[in-house]
This record gives sequence, C-alpha cells and structure tokens, in this order.
Amino acid sequence: MCGIYGYIGKLNAYEKVLEGLKLLQYRGYDSCGIAYYGNGFQINKAIGTLDNLEKVDKETKIAFGHTRWATNGAVNINNTHPHVSFDKAFTIVHNGIIKNADSIKDSLIKQDIAFYSDTDTEVIANLLAYLPGKIDNRVKQLFNILEGSYSLIIGYKNGDIYLVKKFSPLNLLQAEDGIYISSDISSLKQGELYTMQDNDIIKISKNSISNITNHQMNFVKHENSIKAYTLGKFKHYMQKEIYETPISIENTYYYLKNQKIRKIFKHYNKFTFIGCGTAYHSCLVGERLFREKLKYEANSELASNYELNKSISRHHLHIIVSQSGETADCIKVAEKIRACHGKLLLITNEPTSTIARMADYLILTKANKELAVASTKTYCCQLFVFAYICHVLKDKNYDINICQFTKILNDYMTNIKVTSLVEKLQSSDKMILIGRDIDYISLLEASLKIREIDYIYTIPMYSGELKHGTLSLIDENSNILALNTSDDIDKLEVVKNEIESRGGSVIFIDKLYRIDKSIDEYYKPIFSIIPFQILSYEIAISKGYNPDMPKNLAKSVTVE
Ligand code: M6R
Repeated sequence: MCGIYGYIGKLNAYEKVLEGLKLLQYRGYDSCGIAYYGNGFQINKAIGTLDNLEKVDKETKIAFGHTRWATNGAVNINNTHPHVSFDKAFTIVHNGIIKNADSIKDSLIKQDIAFYSDTDTEVIANLLAYLPGKIDNRVKQLFNILEGSYSLIIGYKNGDIYLVKKFSPLNLLQAEDGIYISSDISSLKQGELYTMQDNDIIKISKNSISNITNHQMNFVKHENSIKAYTLGKFKHYMQKEIYETPISIENTYYYLKNQKIRKIFKHYNKFTFIGCGTAYHSCLVGERLFREKLKYEANSELASNYELNKSISRHHLHIIVSQSGETADCIKVAEKIRACHGKLLLITNEPTSTIARMADYLILTKANKELAVASTKTYCCQLFVFAYICHVLKDKNYDINICQFTKILNDYMTNIKVTSLVEKLQSSDKMILIGRDIDYISLLEASLKIREIDYIYTIPMYSGELKHGTLSLIDENSNILALNTSDDIDKLEVVKNEIESRGGSVIFIDKLYRIDKSIDEYYKPIFSIIPFQILSYEIAISKGYNPDMPKNLAKSVTVE
C-alpha cells in the first residue's frame, strides 16, 4: 500500500526520491507525488505511475514523496500526496489512517479553514497550521490529538523536516551522501539505520538530526544489495520469486537448524494459528500438522475475523503468520494478544516489521524480499517451517537432507510445463478445484492465486461435496482441476465419473506433474501448490495482465 521516501543530502534529492519511490512500487499505488525544496516546497503530483511525474531540472537537496493507494477518497490529484496546509507553511506525506480526522476537520472548518481534498492527511497539515506555538511543540501535540496510525514526513517552509511515527513504520538511514527516509527498510541501501519507535519525532535541520522526543536513537549498520529488485532473466517478479523457492527453502532450513525450536514450543500444548489470505492457508496446514501429527490442541483463525478468548492459559501459544509483518488485521490481533498477556510467536519474512517488534518469539522465513503482490516463495517457506518444526518436535534428532530435497524440488519445477493447460483454461470464466484432506487446503490457495492474478472465479471444494449442490454447475464447458496426493484414488475416481458423465472434464494436477506419492507427506503441500502458482502466472501472461500488480490489490494490506 502507500509508500514514503525522502532524501536530504549532497545529491539531487528529487532524483533520489524518484529512485526510492520506484523501489516501493511493488506495494501497489494509484497516484504519486514529490515535494522538493527551493525557496519553499514545490510539488509535483501525478495520477498513475511515477513515469507520469514531470521532470525537474533544478538541483534540489531536500525532497520527499509518496505513492498513494486510495483509502480515504477517490484517486484524483487533489487527494494525491503531498498535502499542503492552508497557510502553505506545512507540506506533508502520510501513511496510515487517522480515525478521528472527521471530527478534527469539522472543528477546523468552523474556523473557516477550507479543505481541497477528502484525505485525513490534509487534516494533519491544517491542524499544524492552526495550532499555536513553536513548530516543534505543534508537532509534538499531534500525539495528543490524532487517533490512529501514522508515519509522516512534514516539511516546514524554512526547509526543516520532521519525521513522526505512530504504529506505521518509518526508517532513517545515514549514508555517506546524505540522509534517506523510507517506510520500507528493504528500499534502503547502505549506512547507519535507525528504525523509528512509536511516538518518535525526529527533526532534520540543516543536515543535523535530533530526536525531539528525547528517545535514544540506536543506529545499526545496514547493508542491503537490493538484489531482490533486479529481474535478471525473468520477465516479472512473480515468475522470479516462484523459481526462487528452492533456494529460499534451503536458506530457511539453515536458519531453522540454528534455532532452538524445541525450547520455544516445550511450554505450550495449545496453539492458535492466525493469518490472512495466503498466510492463513499456511496456518491451516500448520494447524493440521500440529493436530494430527503432534496431537496438540490447535485451531486456525482469520485475523480479520478474530475474537480473542480472554481466558488465555499460559500453555496457549498464538502463532501469527505474516509475510510482511505489517498486515493491519494481524497487528490488531497482536495488540489484543498482548493486552491479554498472551504469548505470541510470529512467522515472518520481515524481521524488523511492526509485529516482529511485538512478538515474544520470532521464526523467520529466509525468502529474501518478495515484491510481487502474490505470495509464492514465502508461502512455500511457511509450509517448510511448519513441516520442519513438526518433525523436530517429534524427534529431537531430526534432520533433512536439504541438498537432496532442493534438488528434487528443482527437478520437479523444471518439468512443470503449463502451455497446453493455459490454452485450455485461459478463456474460462469459472473453474472448480476439487480435492480431499490436506489437498483441499492447497486448493484454497490455488484458487486464491487464480482469482487474484487471472481474475477468474474459482471454487475450491471438497470433492465429495460436489454432489451436494455444485454438480448443477457442471456442463460440457466445465473444466475441473483435481488434486490427489494421497494413495486413496477411488473416491476421486467416482467424482470424476460424475463430472464426465455430465460432459465436464477433469484434469488431475498430481498426475500431470507427477507429484511423487513417496515425498514426505509433511512437505507435500509445497509440491502441490507450485504447479498452480506457475499456472496462474502463465494464464495472466496469456491474457495480457500484469501478474506483479493485480488490480485493486496491494502487497502489504496496512488498513483494516
Ligand atoms: O503480509 P501477510 O502475509 O500478512 O499478507 C496477508 C495477505 O494479504 C497475503 O497473504 C495475500 O493474501 C497474498 N499476497 C495473496 O497472494
């Protein structure tokens, strides 16, 4: 979703911010803007991509910008950031949501202050201009007045910059050539990094940095090659990331091997898995393994639908799975768990994320940055984490021959050819996916991939349920994808006959791509999902869609 990037230093700040915002594009956005300093702040805004922003010839040393994913108000220039206060003294970009913006706006309107946008950000700008007193104090007062989440860059008319953080992430990097600011750590390259804490205000005035809320600023060395941003031989990030699955799993394995897994889990016998979207599907797999293989009490919850049972026993561990660690629905759940003194484990790809800072325990997937909106390699790593943990909890001496495993996976992926399947399916407007047991969970995820990337309605179903209603949809135009990774073939054969006798056709993905029935069953869901990931990618390409940025979706869903 929205992204913030800023630069103050020796180089051309406008260009630096443009470069920085490009690194944030993967988050999804519908409009963008940059403020740059030279005799007050000047602003360029555009609807659509960063390429639509006007070029600026003048050299400027201070600039900051924003990519907007509309939440408050339509996509139009007035709503695009940066926003300027009525007295032109404050220029602001903002990530997050101000919950009490309407009431503040009403009281400012009563003071004859005019508004030109529907955004909560303009409310902050006008509030700052309206408040009396010194500028530092006005900025400090924001914490007493604003409710909600916000990370802000505020440019004052004399060139001073204020960075403000509450719940929404913001980072500052001191590099040789200047100061970089970003809402997304992975877009920052090399230097001394400070991850802002809640209620921090940093003032940058004539290149000197001070924390005016008096919090101690602990800078750490930060090295980031931003290799994840180069496509190499691939056409899209989604494609690149799918094929990075084996190496990501290998790196996750070496990381896990050095973690004291049994030490974390030994205190608990009840587990609640929580996530959204793809991460929720990996929760379902985790829950199943914990329940069936370890005989623990386990359940899964969608973060957006989560009701916390207040009487949490001390043997109850909550496990949030979140690739980004920034999903608003998950943050809400993490807050509830903490408020009830529950214990929280986060499984994430982003060790410095908001939820990572709230968790009692952290287990990482080592997939490197995932940029495409569709989660692919991180999902497989999450599945690997659960499978590996389960094995280790069963047998403390457990190990896996990871080289052999990744070789099998690599060979398997190399042999997945989807061209004829794409030809058959690309013009479908609906698809039914059938399977049983754990395969059904893989189909939930497969269905999500095909919906989000290919815009095709897909219905994942337990195969045995077809005859209880959905069979009425079957005709000669129906394509049914089936998945059966177990030895039990009879039940699906019956369903196949039911479909075929009504003119529909059934394609068994496990047979087509030879999912070896002898693969350790804990790891099988990894093998099950990959053909669907590749298929959804290739269908999108055949339809001329951009798989990296499906419409209406954002990589990190930072609003509830
Ligand atoms: O960052 P998270 O794992 O918390 O994101 C949760 C979902 O938004 C995410 O898994 C989403 O469903 C996928 N990107 C879809 O491919």
